[in-house]
Amino acid sequence: MFMNKKFIVSNWKTAVVSVAQAEGILDSANDFLDSLGERKELSLVFCPPFIFLEEVEKILGTGHLEHMAELGAQDIALSDAPAQAGEISGEMLGRLGVRYVIVGHSERRWKLGESDELVNKKLRAVLIHEMVPIVCIGEREQTDDWKKFLEDQVLATFAGLTADEIKKCIIAYEPVWAISSTPGAKPDTPESAVGSIQVIEHVLSVQYSVPSIQFLYGGSVDPANISSFLKPTEVNGVLVGRASAEKGEFVRVLAAAAKAHMS
Ligand code: PGA
Repeated sequence: MFMNKKFIVSNWKTAVVSVAQAEGILDSANDFLDSLGERKELSLVFCPPFIFLEEVEKILGTGHLEHMAELGAQDIALSDAPAQAGEISGEMLGRLGVRYVIVGHSERRWKLGESDELVNKKLRAVLIHEMVPIVCIGEREQTDDWKKFLEDQVLATFAGLTADEIKKCIIAYEPVWAISSTPGAKPDTPESAVGSIQVIEHVLSVQYSVPSIQFLYGGSVDPANISSFLKPTEVNGVLVGRASAEKGEFVRVLAAAAKAHMS
């Protein structure tokens, strides 16, 4: 991770369906970075579908992306065991140059039934390969017990990990109700997101003696709201889904982020 920079993590999910689409986004991002001149305060991470990792890694070695962007994956197998049909192991990801791995994304937790225990195992699989887990945490609904939900999810997700291991993670606070794929989704407010981040920080500090950890906000981030989410010091960056998968929209995201960070 590039320290002291706010960063933009793109989660392409299944919205980027071809190498040509991936190239289009990356070329547009590179052109935009070129227009920034010397003021390159942004750090980018791209998490393509597995089948494009190799191609994207090659492109990230070119132009401005070489110094400003890194490769991430959207998931990982539980272990490196050789008989896990259909899975992609940490060893494979490491060999492809992956630095970050998203674990516990709500679409996997809630649509595919991944439990906290499973997320915990995947998180460990990322750490074993010395990659950085981007651990998604977030309540499902805006109900009165949201705080307890967050606390329980944090405890279960990080169960048994040492403070040193947890410090190596980045937490993406992503309230499920704010993610664009959720019917009726609306973005959180920066104030409320910071409040939730503080709840998570408190649990990690009291239960695991973790003094500080990096946080992203995710959930319907777009060109209009990104600057407000990047402003609080508690937020080190954003995890962007829908708006990262279309080149024009993504360049608008980058432009708004760059403007916010420079002002
Ligand atoms: P969204 O997705 O930006 O489309 O809401 C964010 C995410 O799911 O990580």
